[in-house]
Amino acid sequence: MTPGVRPLIAGNWKMHGLAADGLALARAVASGAAGLKAEVLLCPPATLIAPLAQALAGALALGGQDCHEAAKGAHTGDIAAAMLKDAGATYVILGHSERRMAYRETSHRVRAKAEAALAAGLIPVVCVGEPEDDRLLGRAEEVVAEQMTESLPEGFGTAGGVVAYEPVWAIGTGKIPTLSEIEEIHASIRELLHEYMDEEHANLVRIVYGGSCNATNAKSIFALPNVDGGLVGGASLQLDSIKEIIASI
Ligand code: 13P
Repeated sequence: MTPGVRPLIAGNWKMHGLAADGLALARAVASGAAGLKAEVLLCPPATLIAPLAQALAGALALGGQDCHEAAKGAHTGDIAAAMLKDAGATYVILGHSERRMAYRETSHRVRAKAEAALAAGLIPVVCVGEPEDDRLLGRAEEVVAEQMTESLPEGFGTAGGVVAYEPVWAIGTGKIPTLSEIEEIHASIRELLHEYMDEEHANLVRIVYGGSCNATNAKSIFALPNVDGGLVGGASLQLDSIKEIIASI
């Protein structure tokens, strides 16, 4: 944990959740969230942002899972940052590895999206993380550094931007890096932040860990220096797990 920083626990629901179940889960998460040490953020499918915003009335933060880099236009199936904001989101996840891989999103595109998010008043949660091959070749830090350099927009730190370190091979697999590997890479991300922004903001950017984070491993991961919370996939869909994860910070 970084001193002076309010940790963030974010649930990325991915493409899970219809209205009835999503609302019930969000309400149950919110019921224990008042006065918590961590800020709790839910990123449901875009269709649920507005109903959740209405049901939760500010008890939890809400975020999108992606946005387009254009403010509006002929982009069938896409969603603009301002639309997410209009629906009640305050954050947006960008550059998730599932999008980098399935839609060939480059870091340059992620930066354009992050710029659009900032312009719309949304806080970007920019994901970085190495594929397994790069980890095995000892190139994890290098890959993450390149993604950081190319993905982070101007003004990221002053807007409260969040970096999510999500090693691709740890997502949904039950595998996680060792604690010292997580510590090392988070420290390298913090160091890089100091190259892009003034000291105060570089120290306040939250760097969260994602990838098979669960109720069993969360406490030891969150105790590491420069780990300011988590971006949780599968375990955020289970009420008991996400509550335990939130409580373990
Ligand atoms: P899992 O927690 O299911 O591994 O997913 C992590 C993730 O991709 C969060 O964005």
